[in-house]
Amino acid sequence: MAKKKCDVTDLKLAPQGKKKILWADRDMPVLALIRRRFEKQKPLAGIRVGCCMHVTSETANLMRTLQAGGAQVALCASNPLSTQDHTAASMVKDFGVAVFARRAESVKTFYDHVNTVIDIKPQITMDDGADLVNTLHTKRTNEAENILASMEETTTGVIRLRAMAGNGELLFPVVAVNDADTKHLFDNRYGTGQSTLDGVLRATDLLLAGKHIVVVGYGWCGRGVAMRARGAGAIVHIAEIEPLKALEAVMDGFHVAPMSELATVGEVFITVTGNKHVLRAEHFRKMKNGAVVCNSGHFDVEIDIPALRKMSKKVVKEVRPLVTEYQINLRKSIYLLADGRLVNLSAATGHPASVMDMSFATQALTAEWIAKKGRKLAVEVHEVPRKIEDQVAQFKLHAMDVHIDRLTREQVRYLASSGEGT
Ligand code: ADE
Repeated sequence: MAKKKCDVTDLKLAPQGKKKILWADRDMPVLALIRRRFEKQKPLAGIRVGCCMHVTSETANLMRTLQAGGAQVALCASNPLSTQDHTAASMVKDFGVAVFARRAESVKTFYDHVNTVIDIKPQITMDDGADLVNTLHTKRTNEAENILASMEETTTGVIRLRAMAGNGELLFPVVAVNDADTKHLFDNRYGTGQSTLDGVLRATDLLLAGKHIVVVGYGWCGRGVAMRARGAGAIVHIAEIEPLKALEAVMDGFHVAPMSELATVGEVFITVTGNKHVLRAEHFRKMKNGAVVCNSGHFDVEIDIPALRKMSKKVVKEVRPLVTEYQINLRKSIYLLADGRLVNLSAATGHPASVMDMSFATQALTAEWIAKKGRKLAVEVHEVPRKIEDQVAQFKLHAMDVHIDRLTREQVRYLASSGEGT
C-alpha cells in the first residue's frame, strides 16, 4: 500500500487554520526575519527534518521557516491532546508540510505517526519530550545512523537525554535547546505562566482572586505559573523538593510547605515538576471538596490518576469540556482537568506566539548550525552556541523597538583589565 502523505482529521478545516497561522506570524518577527534569509540562502537544502512537536499555529511557522531553508519536513504530535486540527489541515493544504497528527488520537496512532516521521529517514530531528529520539533509540535503531543531531526543547526531555549520555547510551549528538536562555527564561517562565492559567480559566471559569493555588515545582515553569497566579490575586503556595529552589520561592514571597500540608489548603493544584505521581492518594485523601487538579508538565504522569480513579465511588466525564469529576464519597469530589495532560495546550492554545518566536528562532538557527557542522558534532549533549542566543535576543529587542546602551571604550578596557581596584 502506498504510504500516506499526511494524516490529519479534516483538510476542510484548513481556511480557519491558515488564519490562525498568519495571526501567530504577526507576533513572530524574529522567525519571519530568519525565514526571509533562509529563502535566499537555503542553508537546509536537501536536509530531511523529522519533528515531534505540539501541532500549533506557532509550530506551523517554524515548519514554514525550515521549508524556506530548503528542508524536507515531516511533523507528528508530541502530545495527543495538543493538536489543533485546523492548523494541521492548513499546514498540509496551504504550506505543503507532511503532517501526521489528529487531536485525541490513540496511543497506537500517536506512535504510528512517530514511526511515519522516522520513515522519511530524518537527518535532523526536533523533539518536544524526547518521544522521537526515544523511538530511535529503542525500536528504530537502524535509522539512528542517518541523524546528524537532534534537538530537544523540554526540561523533561533534556533530563532524560543527559541520563542516556551519562550511561553511554546516546546514539547521536543532541542539542539541549531547552537549556538556551532564549528558550527557558522566556518560554518556560512567561509562556507556561500565562498559558497554564489560560487553560485553567478556559476549562473552569474560576475566579482566581483570593483562591488558594498550590504550584507543585518551582523550576522555570513553576515560577512563571506562581508569578502569574499571584498577579491575578491568588494566594499562592509552593511545594518543592530542592532546597535552593524552595529558598528562592520563600524569598520571592511565596508560602512554601510540603504537599502533606498544602493538600489540605489548596483549591487549585497545578503540577509542573517533570516527575511522577507528585499528587497521589495520600494527598487526594486530604484535599477539600471541589479541589481542582491539573498538570502543565510534559507527561501525564505527575498526577496519579489510577489512584484517584481507584479511590473514587464514581467518575463523571465531561461535567464541562475537559473536566472530569472524581466522586470520592457523597461529600467530596475532586475535579481533574484535561485528563492530567498539559492543561495549557489541551484546554488552551499553548504559549503565545511572541514567546514561541524566541524558542523557534533558536531552533531554526540551531538547525542551520547542525547542517553546517555535518558529521562533526560529538555524540553528546550540546549547548546552543552563545552566538545564536545573542542573535535571537538582539533581533527580539529590535523587533520590540527596545534600544539598549553599549559599553564605552573606557568600560571595555576596564572589564578587560585587573589593574584597578580599591
Ligand atoms: N509548547 C508550548 N506552547 C506551544 C505552542 N504554542 N506551540 C508549540 N509548542 C508549544
